[in-house]
Formats: sequence, structure tokens, C-alpha cells
Amino acid sequence: MQKFMIAGSSRLKGTIRASGSKNATLPVLAASILNAGKSVIREVPRLVDVLVMNDLLVHLGAKVNFDRDIIEVDSSNIQPVEISEDLMRRMRASNLVLGSLLGRFGYVKIAYPGGCQIGSRPMNLHLKGLQLLGATIQEKSGYIIAEANRLTGAEIHLDLPSVGATENLMMAAVLADGVTIIRNVAKEPELVNLQNYLNSIGGHVRGAGTDTIKIEGVRPEELRPAEHTIIPDRIEVGTYMVAAAITGGDVTIVNVIPEHLDPLLAKLREAGVNVTVGNGYVRVLGNGRVKAVDIKTMPYPGFPTDMQPQMMALLSLAEGTSVITETIFENRFKHVGELRRMGADIKVEGRTAIVKGVDRLSGACVEASDLRAGASLILAALSAEGGSVLENVQHIDRGYDRSETKYNALGGRIIRVQS
Ligand code: UD1
Repeated sequence: MQKFMIAGSSRLKGTIRASGSKNATLPVLAASILNAGKSVIREVPRLVDVLVMNDLLVHLGAKVNFDRDIIEVDSSNIQPVEISEDLMRRMRASNLVLGSLLGRFGYVKIAYPGGCQIGSRPMNLHLKGLQLLGATIQEKSGYIIAEANRLTGAEIHLDLPSVGATENLMMAAVLADGVTIIRNVAKEPELVNLQNYLNSIGGHVRGAGTDTIKIEGVRPEELRPAEHTIIPDRIEVGTYMVAAAITGGDVTIVNVIPEHLDPLLAKLREAGVNVTVGNGYVRVLGNGRVKAVDIKTMPYPGFPTDMQPQMMALLSLAEGTSVITETIFENRFKHVGELRRMGADIKVEGRTAIVKGVDRLSGACVEASDLRAGASLILAALSAEGGSVLENVQHIDRGYDRSETKYNALGGRIIRVQS
């Protein structure tokens, strides 16, 4: 177990470079199963979740080499061996190999991922979609077993725009017989990134970024090796933007696709934060105390649930009262209790948090319950009066590439210590 000792009253200043996106990397690694050959993937962030996905590919028989920010996968010798609870417990997104293993081998056996800290996170939409593509699904003794001779193209309408279900179904349909049309899909930029990868290996996928995706199935021999570059991590960028705002700093982030940040930019500007956007960069100039704003998390291009905890940290210091409504995950307010320990005035009523801005936060000993909750507590601690201790930083390592190095390069004072 490791923890961060974080000095308060920091003012972050300088320039950092965003890493590649975690949520874009994981499905591309899962999709690399499909082409039964080599994929070279660039701009890969060094994250625990990425290492877990690499272990999973190796468990299946792939050769994986991760050097600096490039991963080379050779999936020629993969076999659809069982994926145990142990691997699934290390990372929920391991469920992303469901579609690609089923598409390539017609068989997959994977432990049920179960719920997690932020919500129950069922798999019903993934499984319903795979059934429409012709798979038989059995759920027994904690495992999902999906089988099909060859998947067949179908029309699928998702009940809600699940990111993971859209990704699994896109991957499964690449090798299906005929055309698949998936409606009401997730529109996140990570889906466009996955589409680009799938097309680079020879798939025929169109429409990612809109609410309908069309996949024309190809034969396995039509797929080929490919090189692909991962898009920048919009949630990492957003987190450092809020870090600049909450510390009254002046931070420029490069390697950014500003359009991916639109919902966050709008809210930061509404709160009175000075944000400049240029070609491949954003600059955030903290402007004194922010104004209260209301936030409702929504699927992209709505406000991202993965930025809700960080914005709550910022709004806990706003002038006035903000109302934050979490519509995506039912249990994503675990950071509230910890922010309160630092002096925040936040009341939770069901899926809504009422955040009354206070003049200052005070350093405290707090605990990261999940990835983004941990990120929000770093931000609160950097701005607080006095030092803080943040426990359970392994959650942060799942999704932030060298986080303390980047904060410290901006003048933050964060030390990692063994608990
Ligand atoms: C992905 C992201 C995660 C982000 C989330 C929402 C990755 C690796 N993770 O997670 O960081 O917070 O999108 O933007 O990309 N649902 C169902 N049935 C299903 C699937 C989902 O009811 O079969 C529900 C979930 O419980 C949740 C909502 O749909 O309430 C959205 O989940 P989903 O978009 O699937 O999130 P993930 O893909 O797991």
C-alpha cells in the first residue's frame, strides 16, 4: 500500500504533456486479438490498468512488449482460454475481450466482472447484443460462456449508450457474417479511436461519434497487422485543468484535442475560470474564487461522470451553492465524506449533491475509494491549508500516468511513501 503526502497552498504553474487515453487504450488492446498478428500501438500511457490488460493478453497466449509508450502485441498464438475471477477482479475493463475473443474463436469463458465501488455495472447490454449476433450465452457458477459458430450481422438497438457494450459489439461484429447496425451507441471519442484501429487492421466500421455504427463483417484472412496512435486522455487533461483552477495557477497542457473537452470547457468558463484553447493545447489561468455552477453528468457530449469528483472539489470552494447530479453511476459520491473531512460543506440526497462553497479547505488524512475520487482528493489537498495524507493511491495509478511527477513538475509538492 502506498500513500501520498501532499503539501497544501500550492499554486501550479507551467506546461505538461497529456498522456494517451486509458479508456482508448484498453479497447484497442482487446481488439488486437482480432487480427491474429502484430499491432504496434503508440502513445500508450503507463498505467496499472494497461499492465493488467497486457497480463490478460499474455495469459491468452499473446506476445506483448511495452517499451516507453509503445506496445507491440503479437496475437497469432492466442487461444480462448478461461479468464478467471482473479484477472477480472484486477480490472473490470477485462470484460472488453468478450467481443474480440468471441468474434475470432466463436468461444469465450470469462468470470462475471461483478459490481465495483462506483456502482453495480451490469453486463446485460453486452450480452443481449451478442445474442442478437447469434451467440448462445450461459451464465453459470460466476462465469459467462458465449459461443457461436460464426457470428451473423444484425440490427441492435442499445437500451442506453453504454461505452463498454458499444465497444464489445463493434469488435464482435468485425468478423461477423454480414452487416451489423448498432443504434443508440455511445459517442465518446474513445469509440472513434477504436473505429480507427479496427479499420487500420482491415475492418469496415463507420459512424463512430454518431449514434449509429455500421460494421460490414470481413473474413479473418482480410485482417492484417497495423500501427495505431492512441488519442490524448481527455479526463487526465480535464483533471490538470481543474488542478490549475483550484490552485489559482497558470497551467498549459499540450498534446490535447480541445473539442473532446467541450463540456468541461463550458462549465469551467461558466464558473469564471479563464481558459484559452489553441491548436493542440489548453491553458487555464486560475482567476480567484470560482462561481457556483450546476452539473449533471451525461453520456458524451454531456458532462463526463469521470470529471464529476474533480469538479466537486473545485466547487466546494466556490462562491455560492452548486447542485451536482450523477446520472451515470449510482454510487459515485464516495469522495464526499473525504472532502467533508477537509472542511467541505456537501450534502447528498440520492443522486444529487448540494455543494455549499466554503472559504477554504484544510489538510487532512483521507482515502481514495476509487480512481476519480482519488484524483479529486489530490486537487483538494493541493489547494488546502496545511498538509494532507492520501491513502490507497493504487487507485490513482490505475488511471494517471506518473501523476505525482506531473504535479511536481508544475510546482506541486507530492511525495509517495510506503504505508
Ligand atoms: C466506461 C469508462 C468509464 C466511464 C464510463 C461512463 C472505460 C474502460 N471505462 O465504463 O471510465 O466512467 O464508461 O462514461 O472505458 N450499463 C448497463 N448495462 C450494461 C452496461 C452498462 O446497465 O450492460 C450501465 C452502467 O451500469 C452505467 C451506464 O450503463 O450505469 C454506463 O456504463 P458504461 O458506459 O457501460 O461504462 P463502462 O463502459 O463500464
